[in-house]
Amino acid sequence: MKKNVLITWWLGYIGSHAVVEFEKNWYKTVIVDNLSNSSIEALIWIEKILGYKPDFFEVDIRDKNKLEEIFKKYNFDWVIHFAWLKAVWESCLKPLDYHDNNILWSIRLFELMDKYNVKNIIFSSSATVYKEKFVDKNFNWYTENDLTWDCTNPYWTTKFILEQILRDLSIHLKFRVMNLRYFNPIWAHTSWYIWEDPNWIPNNLLPYIMKVAIWELPYLNIFWNDYSTIDWTWVRDYIDVNDLIEWHIKAFQYIEKNNIDLWFFNIYNLWTWKWVSVLEILKTTEKVIWKEIPYKFVWRRDWDLAEVYCNREKAYKELWFKTKISLEESLRNSWKFYNNNK
Ligand code: NAD
Ligand code: WQD
Repeated sequence: MKKNVLITWWLGYIGSHAVVEFEKNWYKTVIVDNLSNSSIEALIWIEKILGYKPDFFEVDIRDKNKLEEIFKKYNFDWVIHFAWLKAVWESCLKPLDYHDNNILWSIRLFELMDKYNVKNIIFSSSATVYKEKFVDKNFNWYTENDLTWDCTNPYWTTKFILEQILRDLSIHLKFRVMNLRYFNPIWAHTSWYIWEDPNWIPNNLLPYIMKVAIWELPYLNIFWNDYSTIDWTWVRDYIDVNDLIEWHIKAFQYIEKNNIDLWFFNIYNLWTWKWVSVLEILKTTEKVIWKEIPYKFVWRRDWDLAEVYCNREKAYKELWFKTKISLEESLRNSWKFYNNNK
């Protein structure tokens, strides 16, 4: 008997990958998306991969009545909450939109979960809940218990607040919460049918680099080079989205296999521990695609975190978390994909 999984925001980058892999792992996904940052085209690609269309509702998740109709129609076992406006720069321009969209209507969702006794949730959190580089003399990097409340941008604030709300719901309403913190997913589905394809010029580094590589954009703007990293450009932990989704499924299976029927609020840092600077990504891409990527050093993005490091031991020990796909393989696949599909 397939388990019903509600995936909020399925047509987004990570959500669309999650739909395919959860369907392949014998879960029935029910998807809600308002198509504000995606296109219905992703549904066609997903049908090509699966051979059928998952149940899809073009609903704005802030429309509680329509969302309740969906809860009435399906007996959900789980919710995977990808729902978010995620452009950090935009959150600084529209903080109220971000608080409304990311917090208020998440609370509407949780109200329906409680009303319909759907207590299991995987929350797509973020490494942005940590501050910049935290390397004390013992190299005790951020663990899941370290949180920094002095958020430097509204995107970060909304992630931080949602984590606290979910912690309350686990204690007082017996929710079972798997809270996954990761930084930068990259690349696309191994089928090459689905990828990170925002409706406008990409915010994120890798799709931007690829659009420069296929001459859709003239050059890459590198947001400043003043930080004491290996080459003065800023550092991130990049994880292949196929690895990332596999660990969303393993998080499910960890709970089901261990038959954990008590409430809990588990946090895991899903990090590869392969920190890479912007120039390293760019030079590695050039090596992989045999092409030069033109770039310019420009202004620094105010809210940008230069470096963030965190401890991955808990996910390694408890979930046996490890990644399989190397950065070069992700970049090679990404290039094959952009060079063929665009
Ligand atoms: P995305 O922007 O690609 O997808 C968001 C989707 O949500 C889009 O399809 C959009 O149409 C839809 N949407 C927006 N507002 C909606 C609403 N009110 N109702 C219904 N649908 C709505 O985002 P993503 O990169 O797939 O990120 C998904 C989650 O992962 C987010 O919670 C994000 O914070 C988290 N995350 C992303 C990254 C990253 O670098 N992409 C890193 C860490 C965590
Ligand atoms: C990566 C690096 C930039 C673009 C992401 C998600 C955001 C949030 C946090 C989850 C940075 C540099 C980028 C460009 C550049 N997700 N860069 N020129 O900033 O880590 O944010 O993680 O919590 O939703 O977007 O990712 O890809 O924007 O930037 O120089 O055109 O590349 O300065 O160092 P970021 P990114």
